[in-house]
Amino acid sequence: MPSRSKLTCSLLLFLTTSHNPTAFTHPSSPHHHRPSHRLQMTAQDIDGKAIAATIREELTNKLSTLPSSITTRPGLAVMLVGSRKDSQTYVRMKQKACADCGMESVLAEYPDGENVKEETLLEKIREWNADEKVNGILVQLPLPTHISEEKILREVDPEKDVDGLHPANTAKLFSTSTHAGAVKLNWKDFTSIPFHIPCTPQGCIELLDRINDGNGVDIEGKNAVVIGRSNLVGMPVAMLLLHRNATITIVHSRTKNIEDVIKQADIVVAAVGRANMVQASWLKPGCIVIDVGINSVDDASTKRGYRLVGDVNYAEAKEVCEWITPVPGGVGPMTIAMLLRNTWNSWRRAQGIDD
Ligand SMILES: *[C@@H]1O[C@H](CO)[C@@H](O)[C@H](O)[C@H]1NC(C)=O
Repeated sequence: MPSRSKLTCSLLLFLTTSHNPTAFTHPSSPHHHRPSHRLQMTAQDIDGKAIAATIREELTNKLSTLPSSITTRPGLAVMLVGSRKDSQTYVRMKQKACADCGMESVLAEYPDGENVKEETLLEKIREWNADEKVNGILVQLPLPTHISEEKILREVDPEKDVDGLHPANTAKLFSTSTHAGAVKLNWKDFTSIPFHIPCTPQGCIELLDRINDGNGVDIEGKNAVVIGRSNLVGMPVAMLLLHRNATITIVHSRTKNIEDVIKQADIVVAAVGRANMVQASWLKPGCIVIDVGINSVDDASTKRGYRLVGDVNYAEAKEVCEWITPVPGGVGPMTIAMLLRNTWNSWRRAQGIDD
């Protein structure tokens, strides 16, 4: 059974990549070749925008080549509470991304965030849990302070929790299955993981898997240092790296000699939300930097008066590391791509369809 769909898949992947030559294009192509023994190097950008576009195209192709007997499509339900401009923008982007790849989406919007009742939101989630046209449920965060985020997220059916934030999904992510009789999961193939993995952390690993002309880098045995211990990124990305057999260290505000610890890292994942915190001198030459931070800093020279920077001093770090994600255009676009893939997985599992 899987053989045919696997074949279709790799064929689709081939078609996708060959139709989209820019997707994996970066300076490792021959005319940019650099000898690896040089210590002083200029890093190659990890083009998250192109990689995310490739993943979205893969999904689009899968959805447009389904047998005609399958008439339903994946459906994402989005809850937006309040009138934050940034949340509205994110929600619009997510809905557009669904439409672009052939998925359905519905929006429940509660603009009067301060007066919405928790029970109203819980009721909507229960309705979506019971609706078979809804395969993914996304609650745009943050919620107004009088609403318990935990209570809302707990109400989501874990199988529809495409953000991977339900405690049931978190608990599964944090199990290493080392005990006797445990079912071993294939962490090299995220779509085979039978529960939802949070989007941004998943996107970070997916980037590592797709650099080097799509060959990826070997994570096993590498020293990976994660900066920040948030539930949304730091903790889950550390677990994913551990599942890939990296040796992980999580550094935080109380870590002693943080620079020395980071200097040991072959892979650095920065997720603290502090503009340009990580200096080039903290990095081991040749390391890989995944910068999750998106911080705005004042910049009078731009039209908006600010610009976005990561947690890593990109311009300097670029001269030391081997691969680095730019901000914006690195990790950011991967979050939506992973949301789409989680929604696809949720739907195809409900339909009994192989990836
Ligand atoms: C990690 O190492 C274990 C051996 O302890 C191996 O069984 C497993 O396949 C490895 N995982 C990955 C993702 O390579």
